This record gives sequence, structure tokens and C-alpha cells, in this order.
Amino acid sequence: MRYNDIDFNHKTILITGGAGFIGANLAFYFQEHFPQSRIVVFDKFRSEETFSNGNLKSFGHYKNLIGFHGDIVCGDLNDEAALKKLEETYTFDYIFHEAAISDTRVYDQETIMRTNVNSFYPILEMARRSGATLVYASSAATYGSLPSPQTVGKESPENPYGFSKYAMDQIAYRYMREHPDMRIVGLKYFNVYGAREFFKDKTASTVIQFGHQILSGKAPRLFEGSDKIVRDFVYIKDVIQANIKACDAKQSGVFNVGTGKPRSFQDIADILQKELGTDYGTEYFPNPYTGYQMHTQAEVATTKEALGYEPEWELEEGIRDYLPEIIRMYEEEVKPAQ
Ligand SMILES: NC(=O)c1ccc[n+]([C@@H]2O[C@H](COP(=O)([O-])OP(=O)(O)OC[C@H]3O[C@@H](n4cnc5c(N)ncnc54)[C@H](O)[C@@H]3O)[C@@H](O)[C@H]2O)c1
Repeated sequence: MRYNDIDFNHKTILITGGAGFIGANLAFYFQEHFPQSRIVVFDKFRSEETFSNGNLKSFGHYKNLIGFHGDIVCGDLNDEAALKKLEETYTFDYIFHEAAISDTRVYDQETIMRTNVNSFYPILEMARRSGATLVYASSAATYGSLPSPQTVGKESPENPYGFSKYAMDQIAYRYMREHPDMRIVGLKYFNVYGAREFFKDKTASTVIQFGHQILSGKAPRLFEGSDKIVRDFVYIKDVIQANIKACDAKQSGVFNVGTGKPRSFQDIADILQKELGTDYGTEYFPNPYTGYQMHTQAEVATTKEALGYEPEWELEEGIRDYLPEIIRMYEEEVKPAQ
């Protein structure tokens, strides 16, 4: 589906983090709808290195890009020479900056700030020098536990990850002020779910995690009180829509990307059981986390007004659309490892 009149054919598009969940979906979106576009994926991919929380240091996976015909550059955001080489090799028309430490439970401030924030300066400069439209990933984590609806301009991050995205927004605002000719759009994604998130392992959405628990014949495992913990879950197709429409923004800015309709974790488990025709009940366990967002709901009226963004996927429809992929990943990745 094309979301506006922009013709991305014959355009050169950089997708940082293109081997990850959202970036890979963007890469395939352009490949499918604009086969004459030149798409460049820049990603660190995964190594065996882990953070102290046991999670991988980067989640990019080649399997997210099987069938992708564009250029792939394996490189690290922290490597200025690699970013410089990108700029010397290509002249980008559009830059989608998705690469980051996306794990909200990494508490090593130095590593997060270096990777997510320091790297943003050369990316902004690359966009400025090449005249590219820059769309970058911010996050609902910038809001911490402020009351809903979460509104751009009122942030209070509660972990280093959220702060890193908050810092990126502040740097972007300065660029917007100092370079009014640049087009910069920050998108504060809420809880995204959909195809190509499996390789985020434990940090993938609960939609796929509960789905795979149910497919393995078990009751989904939820935090106690999960009917009261609500989030704004947004389907990947709406996130793609927001990115495409951001390229057409009349003005630079930072916008929420959610549905505006908070739903509970219990809803997810119940919808999945209904769709899969199971009745395993629910297994509850205590929430081990402090600083856990109990209620998010994106203020989306501003995004609709500024970008023409219209969230199209209710949780029920999103899960139904996603289910064949959840099952495929279960058959191909989970079952053989059991
Ligand atoms: N998925 C969500 O619900 C969500 C919500 C809010 C914000 N975001 C943001 O959206 C962006 C994309 O998230 P995602 O869900 O696709 O996560 P992801 O982890 O699947 O994708 C991030 C990609 O960045 C790459 N990467 C990590 N460190 C890198 C480095 N140093 N150099 C180069 N590449 C590196 C990873 O290999 C990975 O492929 C991230 O910036 C994330 O913080 C995501």
C-alpha cells in the first residue's frame, strides 16, 4: 500500500538498523512498492556479545533480510569512519535511523549514551550535508510513568534507554531550529508488534511471546494484575505508515506513533487464545520490574494533524494479520530448538 504521492523510485534510501525489526520491515516496504529505489541497510548485526542482563548487544539477524536485494553494510554506529564511508559512497535522499540499543533494560549508561546519542550527531550531519529527509526512532520510553495520554513535550524518562531517546529529541530540536531547511521527523513509537520481531528474543513484544507459549501447549505467563497494565500497542504496518507519511511532513517535529487506544496485556493473551482456539487459562507471576510503565496511551491527534497519520490496526485485527507469521516462526525457529 502506498500512503502518499511520494515516488521513492530512483531515490537512495539509508536504513540504519535495517537488519532489525522495524528497519527490515521498512527495507521490504520500499523494495516491494518502489522496486527502482536504491536501498542501503546499515546494521551491526548480532555477535555473541551480551550485556550484563544476558541479552545480546544487538539483535540484527540475517534472516530478517532473506529476499532483500539492496545493499547491506555491516557496521557499527560507534565507528565514525564507517559512517563517513557510507556518506562518501552514497548520496542519500532519505535516511531512516532505526539502529540503536533497543533494549530498555540495559542500564549501562555510558554504552547506551555512546551508541544511541553520540552516533546521532554524524547521522544528522550526514542528512544535512546530503539534503536528505531524516526520520529517526524516538520512543514512548521518554515518558516514563507520566500519566496518559502521553504528549510530546512532556517527557520524564526513567531509564537510560528512555533518556537516550529524550536526548536525541533535544538534539533534533536544536537542528530543527538552526537548520529550518532540513526535514527532520522523530517518531516516538509506543509498543510495536509484528513480523520480523522474533529475533529480538526476550525483548520482542508479548504478542509473539504469549503466542509461542500457547502454541507450545502452555498457559501464557503474565505479570499479576495484567488486566490493569495497559499499553498502546501499535502494529508494524501502522509504524511503516507513519514513517512514509513523515517523509511528507510539512514541518519538522517529533510525533507519537501509537493507536491512542490502550489495551491490557491480558487482552493480548485472550485474543491469541481465541484466535488459536485454546483455553489454557493464564499463569500469573509477580512483576519483577520497578519503573514499569503501567499505562500508556499515545496522544495521536497531533500526529494525525501534522502527518496525516491514521492508525488502521486495532489489536484484534493486528494480531489476526500477524498470526500466520507467529505460527511460522514457531514451526521454523522455536520447535526445532525445543
Ligand atoms: N519495537 C518497539 O516497540 C520500539 C518502541 C520504541 C522505540 N523503538 C526504537 O525503534 C528502533 C528500531 O527498534 P526495533 O524494535 O526494530 O529494534 P531492533 O533491536 O530489532 O533493531 C535495532 C537494530 O539496530 C542494530 N544495532 C544495534 N546497535 C547497533 C550499532 N551500534 N551499530 C549499528 N547497528 C546497531 C541492531 O543490530 C538491530 O538490527 C530503535 O531505535 C528502537 O529504540 C522501538
